[in-house]
Amino acid sequence: MSVTKDPAPPTGSRIPGFYRLSVAERRHVLRLRSDLSEEDLATWERGGLDTTTADEVVENVVGVYALPLGIGLNFRVNGEDVLVPMAVEEPSVIAAASNAAKMVRAGGGFVADADPPIMTAQIEIVGVGDPHDARARIEAAAEELLGLAHAALPRLSARGGGAREVEVRALPGRVIVHVHIDCRDAMGANMVNTVAESLAERVAGLARGRGGLRILTNLCDRRRVRVRARVPVAALATPGMDGAAVRDGVVAASRFAEDDPYRAATHNKGIMNGVDAVVIATGNDWRGVEAGAHSFAAVSGRYRPLATWREEGGDLVGALEMPMAVGTVGGTLRAHAGARLAQRLLGVTSATTLGMVVGAAGLASNLAALRALATEGIQRGHMALHRRSVAVAERVAAKGVERP
Ligand code: MEV
Repeated sequence: MSVTKDPAPPTGSRIPGFYRLSVAERRHVLRLRSDLSEEDLATWERGGLDTTTADEVVENVVGVYALPLGIGLNFRVNGEDVLVPMAVEEPSVIAAASNAAKMVRAGGGFVADADPPIMTAQIEIVGVGDPHDARARIEAAAEELLGLAHAALPRLSARGGGAREVEVRALPGRVIVHVHIDCRDAMGANMVNTVAESLAERVAGLARGRGGLRILTNLCDRRRVRVRARVPVAALATPGMDGAAVRDGVVAASRFAEDDPYRAATHNKGIMNGVDAVVIATGNDWRGVEAGAHSFAAVSGRYRPLATWREEGGDLVGALEMPMAVGTVGGTLRAHAGARLAQRLLGVTSATTLGMVVGAAGLASNLAALRALATEGIQRGHMALHRRSVAVAERVAAKGVERP
């Protein structure tokens, strides 16, 4: 490949033949399509986190743990092309998401929107004599409690965020107070927990009970992302099946997940293949996103798919909705140069925009899985890539590296 710099650098997320290039060539292509320098990209060579920094992040450190980092291609979200960094160890996840994003692109790309970045603190009060009176007293003091929350997070208020609403729920044996907080571009766990702890004593006093747990809920159902994709049938066709038959197969697979929690679990796992890969690459808390996803999937009392597919005007149309607690500031990003670089490559400007890209990666992964399952099955493509990683393992073993 030529390494002379093009006069007008190419833009966009369509890079045909990217998978055939060497790693060095792929980095060169990324340099041409972003403001990242060669030195920036070398950050990923070392995983983006060194042992000395890691030692300041968690306890008992003895090293760092690496994952492959690749780029999801062909993504267009709300009319903008994005190169999507994905950290994942499972072969075929990145190729499959890129392939599905290309099909969605044929229908105009992903259309996404998101709620404001609201996270919720839970303050538990036990030993309450009359929960209904307690609720009335807490609700009457809502302005005072919001004021205390603002005082606990003065910098968040200055950035336009802060506590927005107090909600009281009476459960058997306990009163639960929710404080809904706009966390702006942070994931927000620390801020929310600070509010929970700052308000607990006053809330317990108002309820005339004793303070219990004070912690955020990961079921952040006021911070949802919604993503839609419309795929023309022509883009779905395989060598052995026409597009309309593939579309009907994807819709049937969606209905299976809607009818059966056992299938919904695997359907959602396929969504989380894409979601987690971007969440991890961008330095976010994937356990929190996972907890939010699965609790939301079960919130109706029955475990449901996070994305569904239907035929509309002949096209295949998919819709995903799920909680999305991700941030573009704070948390791991402070320490993890690789995650900061991933966010720079993405070029997202806010936590809500990042959440939309994450959701698009989830819907793309779901489409790829259902299309494969509705046609030739996943094993042929998966095993071809899996054989590659087995070959790597054998090469490593041949070099005398011990296996457990
Ligand atoms: C494998 O990682 C994910 C799938 O099982 C998802 C699905 O079945 O929808 C292929």
